Amino acid sequence: MCGIFGIITNKEQPLGPILIEAGKRLAYRGYDSVGCATVAGDGTIDLRKDVGRIEDVSAALDFPAMRGSRGITQLRWATFGAPSHENAQPHLDSDGDMVGAHNGNVVNNVQMREMFLREGLTVRGTNDGETCVHAVERHFDRNGGRMLDAICAAYDDLEGDYAFVITHRDEHRLYAIKKGSGLVAGLGDGFTCVSSDLPSILPLTRQVLYIQDGEIVVLSPEGIELYGVHDGQQINRQTKRYEGPIEMAEKGGYPHFMLKEIHEQPAVAGELLHLLNGSRHVERFLEALRATDERPVYLVGCGTSYHACLLGAYYFNQLAGVAAVPVLGPQFIEQYGQSVGPKDTAVFVSQSGETKDVLNAVKVMRERGGRVLGVLNVLGSTLMNTSDVYLPLACGYEISVPATKTFVNQAVLFLYLAYRLAGRDTAELDALAALLARTIEATDGAAREVAGYLAGWEEMYFLGYGLSHPIALEGALKLKEITYAHCEGMFSSEFKHGPLSAVHDGYPVVFYTAPGDESMMINHVNEVTVRGGRAIAVAAAHEALGKNVHDYLVVPDADRFTAPILATVPAQLISYHMSVTRGIDPDFPRNLSKTLTVD
Ligand code: BG6
Repeated sequence: MCGIFGIITNKEQPLGPILIEAGKRLAYRGYDSVGCATVAGDGTIDLRKDVGRIEDVSAALDFPAMRGSRGITQLRWATFGAPSHENAQPHLDSDGDMVGAHNGNVVNNVQMREMFLREGLTVRGTNDGETCVHAVERHFDRNGGRMLDAICAAYDDLEGDYAFVITHRDEHRLYAIKKGSGLVAGLGDGFTCVSSDLPSILPLTRQVLYIQDGEIVVLSPEGIELYGVHDGQQINRQTKRYEGPIEMAEKGGYPHFMLKEIHEQPAVAGELLHLLNGSRHVERFLEALRATDERPVYLVGCGTSYHACLLGAYYFNQLAGVAAVPVLGPQFIEQYGQSVGPKDTAVFVSQSGETKDVLNAVKVMRERGGRVLGVLNVLGSTLMNTSDVYLPLACGYEISVPATKTFVNQAVLFLYLAYRLAGRDTAELDALAALLARTIEATDGAAREVAGYLAGWEEMYFLGYGLSHPIALEGALKLKEITYAHCEGMFSSEFKHGPLSAVHDGYPVVFYTAPGDESMMINHVNEVTVRGGRAIAVAAAHEALGKNVHDYLVVPDADRFTAPILATVPAQLISYHMSVTRGIDPDFPRNLSKTLTVD
């Protein structure tokens, strides 16, 4: 996924600083390359771009000096076309009259490029963002130079899910179109702007307009016009004032967003429970979950969100006797796509609400007539707009690429729903926020120590049994994401059926243990330690377990359903400290992006 931002003002000014600030707030969406383009009053286009992160490229190419009354910036997570200067965005058309940039995926990119080359257009790279610009250019030349018509025509040529912003040197307008990827516009005093998401717009204005699929935005310094791509007709919809917080993009004194967001978990968990109690969305959500006719509920997600679905399935079953099937987005399509129907219900879980692998599954469920429930963090996201009922995670924006607070709130939400389905008093969960705060305090030092040991290893295992199995998987994912070491999460009883062969002197294995599973886990620990492995436990205090392991990260006592949520904290901290020990920036690990809007 990439990030795009565009702005148009009523006077020429230093636009570089505004583009840089917006770019930094989109950095979690991609950091393979970055570029800025400004258009001066006389139509001169200044385009600067290169491979690398915004801080470095901005310094090298002096973005702060860029001036104009229109500007576009793009931050790239490479899909079509390797990271290079040519494939960095924004892109020019053949004659340098237009400049534009995109986010998303144009799946017929190769065929379109071949056509452009046959037609004599100047194609400089292999990136599909350039394809969007040439697609408009081609029709612009043919239909007498009207950008709106050219964009409508290009829409029919371009296949895939994307959003792009574009402008022509001779017209003081900015154009943008949405087809599947996120897009939001902002109205300010003497300027308007458009972006892939809110964080880059909010420091400039709170008057925002969410763009829907198939809509074209035409921006002037005075206002925002909307048109339908299919009929070119104007659409009347006004901006709304965004009332949410905007301070989330600051580090708040922490060295990394990840550590800040780990420390935000007690507060956001408390806020979520407060919000859920008495929310009418919850009642509608529960109604849909109860109306399943004993058919299993599908819990669908990818990456960290899938691990929350897995934990949710344990909660639904063990607390409320409800059968739930945790499944990855694409797997849902391949494994259940031909059997689900109008009687089925699926909960789609995605913090960003934009993960393509999840939205594809939503599409299939829609086509099959099934019920679509959404769990998301980003309001206004595609998942929110396509769900019958949705529940927000209320975490505020999560900037760091490795998900932390959104996972904890996904887990808290599933626990809350399971309590409600079981008819249990949710007041029992009120202690959770304080328990999370105590867990951070109690385990940070030990996690740092264990991370020091693990930093010397390139492979290891995280094991969990039952309720702590999803935490072992989530911990392993965090470690892989931000340390580049290989770590496999696994159901602990499964370890002896093969992977145990990896164990030799000092080989690290971490055991996440829920209260009541200690005896079972002690067996599994000894299978490792008798072969020279180093056993590290993450669990509430337990004397016998303590006697069998080398290191022990003790989490506060809690019931067996709350305990896995607490154990998530040391799992996050181990990875965080190991990443920092290895000199890696945990917020922006190589090759990854916060949300993937591509297949
Ligand atoms: C990946 C992120 O791109 O998407 C992961 O790197 C994340 O951290 C996964 O868990 C799923 O994202 P979402 O937004 O659908 O929960």
